[in-house]
Amino acid sequence: MDRRSFLATTMTSGVIAATSGAATSVAAAEMDVSGLTKANIPTPALVVDLNAFEANIQKMADHCRQAKIGYRPHAKTHKCPQIAKRQVAAGAFGVCVATVPEAEAMAAVGISGILLTSPIVDAGKIGRMVALASGGGKVMLSIGHPREAELLAAAAGAAKTQLDVLVDLDVGDKRTGILPGESAVELARQISRSKNLTIKGVQAYAGHASHTIGFEARQRVSREAIAKAVETKGLLQRAGFDAQILSCGSTGTYNIDSTIEGVTELQVGSYVFMDVDYRRIGSRDGNAVYSDFQPSLTVLTTVVSATHSERVTVDAGTKALDTTTANIPQAKNRPGLLYAKNGDEFGAVNLEPGGKLPAIGERLEFIVPHCDPNVNLYDRIYACLGDKVEAIWSVAARRENAAGKI
Ligand SMILES: Cc1ncc(COP(=O)(O)O)c(C=O)c1O
Repeated sequence: MDRRSFLATTMTSGVIAATSGAATSVAAAEMDVSGLTKANIPTPALVVDLNAFEANIQKMADHCRQAKIGYRPHAKTHKCPQIAKRQVAAGAFGVCVATVPEAEAMAAVGISGILLTSPIVDAGKIGRMVALASGGGKVMLSIGHPREAELLAAAAGAAKTQLDVLVDLDVGDKRTGILPGESAVELARQISRSKNLTIKGVQAYAGHASHTIGFEARQRVSREAIAKAVETKGLLQRAGFDAQILSCGSTGTYNIDSTIEGVTELQVGSYVFMDVDYRRIGSRDGNAVYSDFQPSLTVLTTVVSATHSERVTVDAGTKALDTTTANIPQAKNRPGLLYAKNGDEFGAVNLEPGGKLPAIGERLEFIVPHCDPNVNLYDRIYACLGDKVEAIWSVAARRENAAGKI
């Protein structure tokens, strides 16, 4: 795409973004829940146990306050403005987002301090982010490549919009970002040549550290990764940049990264829900189960076939339970039942020693293997106190066109 059509696209998508109703899908979530319980909502359904969920929100808030560190939780986990609002009310600076629709959905409910942690090099997406900022949205972007810087500078310049940015560092997971050290400083110099972009610091997500099994090993991997970010932040400061922010961290490393001097905020995500993958990483006290946060998210299912003595079938297959990681869904409070994939629509629940098979029509809840992609399969979350549905929350940023855009 030539520069002219690139800029035309950024401007047009910005206008579309500014005039469409990102809030609509959020407002639609304020539904009547009277009479709704876990016994009568349609399954498969995504359910949150409010007690566990609120305890998780509080625990992270308390930890960050005591550690004197900021946090900007990652909304990629939930894509849900109602949850983001609760995190901000508990003390978060704002939220991180992985996609443009997430940024739009969060801005639509008045959340400020939105950090887009993913790179964008697409004219439409860049235009939408610039339009969000032009429309008063408090957004910050992370840039990890000279081409990204070039495109963003052009779009922000054309729209006469000021944008704050972080230099995104690749501190070991080889996914996004520029290498730490001199390459990052060079990128910062390029960024600063645009009068529309202001460098605020660095971002250093270490995905390879977050799920390292065993606290000592996890600490080693994370400290090694984040040291590179601390050093680069120092280099930027010595080069004259006002690099205040170092944003990093995850649910697995929150109590490691918050002790590293120079880190200013955490981008923790999964802690609100937890999942089977995270339950396996082990906690600081040596416990094999990572129990710092409680599993609050489950998929509610119904037993729809019970023909055999050793297994039943539930109405949750690969369309309802994300099974792309190594772990399998775990039946909540039902030992001796083992889930196995059984197609798009169904799951097999096999009887193990010490278990008791549920009857046809009975409901079973499963803790999901990986919370983020599982939430992405649903439009709504049923927030429950015990069996009673207290609210229905919209997974408003689930689709690319969540805000009515293409
Ligand atoms: C860039 C980035 N930051 C933060 C997180 C949050 O990590 P977690 O959900 O492990 O807390 C993720 C998760 O994948 C991420 O991709």
